[in-house]
Amino acid sequence: MMKQRKILYGGDYNPEQWLDSPDILECDIKYMKAAGINVVTVGMFAWSVLEPEEGKYEFAWLKRIVDNLYQNGISVIMGTPSGARPKWLADAYPEVLRVRDDGVRFLFGRRHNHCYTSPVYREKVGSINKALAECFHTHPAVIMWHVSNEYEGKPSCHCSLCKAAFQKWLKGRYETIEKLNAKWCTTFWSHRYQSFEQVEPPSSVGEQELHALTLDWKRFVTEQMADFAENEIRALKEGGISQPVTTNLMYDYQCLNYDRLSQCFDLVSWDSYPVWHRGSDILTARDNGMQHDFMRSLKHQPYLLMESSPSGTNWQGVSKLKKPGLLRAAGLQALAHGSDSILYFQIRQSRGASEKFHGAVIDHYGGMDTRVFEEVAAIGKELQNLGEIAGSRVRADVALIYDIENLWALEEAQGPRNDGMYYHETVMKMYNAIKKLGVNVDVLSAARDISSYKLLAVPMLYMFREGIGDRLKEFVQKGGSILLTYWSGVVDENDRCFLGKTPYGLTDMLGLRRKEIDGLYDEEINVLVPEEKEKEPFREAEMPEGKMQERYVCRNLCEILDVWNARTLMVYEKDFYRGTPAVTESHYDQGVVYYIAADGEQRLYDHLLEKLAGTAGITPIVSGKIPESVEVCSRESEGTEYVFIQNFHHEAVEIKAMELDGCVLLGERKEVLNPFETLILKRGIAGE
Ligand code: GAL
Repeated sequence: MMKQRKILYGGDYNPEQWLDSPDILECDIKYMKAAGINVVTVGMFAWSVLEPEEGKYEFAWLKRIVDNLYQNGISVIMGTPSGARPKWLADAYPEVLRVRDDGVRFLFGRRHNHCYTSPVYREKVGSINKALAECFHTHPAVIMWHVSNEYEGKPSCHCSLCKAAFQKWLKGRYETIEKLNAKWCTTFWSHRYQSFEQVEPPSSVGEQELHALTLDWKRFVTEQMADFAENEIRALKEGGISQPVTTNLMYDYQCLNYDRLSQCFDLVSWDSYPVWHRGSDILTARDNGMQHDFMRSLKHQPYLLMESSPSGTNWQGVSKLKKPGLLRAAGLQALAHGSDSILYFQIRQSRGASEKFHGAVIDHYGGMDTRVFEEVAAIGKELQNLGEIAGSRVRADVALIYDIENLWALEEAQGPRNDGMYYHETVMKMYNAIKKLGVNVDVLSAARDISSYKLLAVPMLYMFREGIGDRLKEFVQKGGSILLTYWSGVVDENDRCFLGKTPYGLTDMLGLRRKEIDGLYDEEINVLVPEEKEKEPFREAEMPEGKMQERYVCRNLCEILDVWNARTLMVYEKDFYRGTPAVTESHYDQGVVYYIAADGEQRLYDHLLEKLAGTAGITPIVSGKIPESVEVCSRESEGTEYVFIQNFHHEAVEIKAMELDGCVLLGERKEVLNPFETLILKRGIAGE
């Protein structure tokens, strides 16, 4: 796929809904060509048409469609249909239906709700996948396989098959029940088990407060889903496929660990449906950009934007239309962050049922003379000149740790704030601060290799799984810079609290320990103010524009520290811990760590990260002041750098303070970026 050096442009196409309307199918091809569409994803929700009766496959219609697409220069991403099963299958084998945590089995309906352990479901999925592969593996149109659709871990399946598989998985993990009891702290409330067979999954009508159980259940659900995916892929391979395989991941999905799931696939793809035009679009763009960076970082290679809406959705609270220009900006944002595609859900709007009002390239009116179609076609035309960007990579010196297992543990913990710990929000404050510096950033779990970065942002890393503390320490020892926050290094991988000083394993490096943590009511604030020493002239000189002399509001959580070997940069202004350290700076071996003890406002992160990036020698992609609503990203390949400068604001913005070298690949060199406008520059990389 990557060899062709073209940006994939197209989306989900469901011709099975139109088999009785050949004129519409013909029209679709004509429109796709007019829109510059070069790939469509088919088959994903077509099981009941592909196998109308058990064991009776009818692929001829799909073959005709794929042939026709190919003859018209359109490639195919072939979907497998496990995301939604036919009625006959559910009727004949009720075990394929998921069971709720109160023991009730779902009736047939909806999608994404199959049992992922059921041997029958695995067998039926395997059989149709293999048959599809046998039919299409040599078809020149098929460039990729897309298994299932948005694997869902919520609600997880609680059937007896899943329960038995969970017990087996636990046995593999802990070997003896005594070990499990010790690691899970089951003596609390007399919950000790005598055998693995006694362990039940967590449930709203049963056990919910044994946090280690909940955590392991979530890990198990991910493992089981990955196993299910591998079963699907195995069947495709048995059917002879050699094309790469992907599945579509979801925005900030918290019910599966994508670090693990993505290992099953050759490349990562995801579905992006931001809530645009609600408040500030640059914040929405940053939130979406963070997900792009997370998806890219899963494999550190180009990925695909598999779905996005050409207009509004039909499932968000309000189905907002994309204002003119935003579609282009959102699509190009994907390219800016490392995607090799811009794909839409859906090519043609379905006529009935759940998604009849979802945005589509071709709507019910059915003409090319629509605002959406015209915008889609204009982007298609532009992409024809951007093919050289495909395959280029994003290089980042900064990494942000966002860890799903940490999130699971942190939010279940029944700790300092059950009214909200704001993990995602804190991660986003760090992300925003990093992007304001005009640099690329990788977003990674704490399990990943961090050794190649210069600067690490580590918010609220409550759980230190085996080795994490040591790796952070080694990173600093070797000259790295870290911004670390409150509520880090509190528990191990089983959510067991570390005994002794915390953040666990790092207190020597930090020269401090957490003594207590205070939860603040929603309406409460504290204020961080410069430490007395900060006012001394020699410190002033070091501070960019004297920024640490400002005051910063903090909310939600305030740690009280015992500091013995760190410089105090800020102290609390209020409460009984007034005057005690709240932001510190520690030098350790060749590196430096800033520790933030409280949930500070955005400006605090902006200023600290700016300072730390300076110390760490991080250089921005372009020099000069970047306006607030502008995002800057870059990709590189073979001595060439592509720089994306995007205005995510509904008003024009001046960019004359930015030094923009290189030739213009897209847009026009000018001093003002129009609303939602993108400029792409191409330049040589010095020294290459
Ligand atoms: C995605 C899903 C698509 C479609 C789309 C609508 O999550 O994969 O099949 O339902 O949402 O926005």
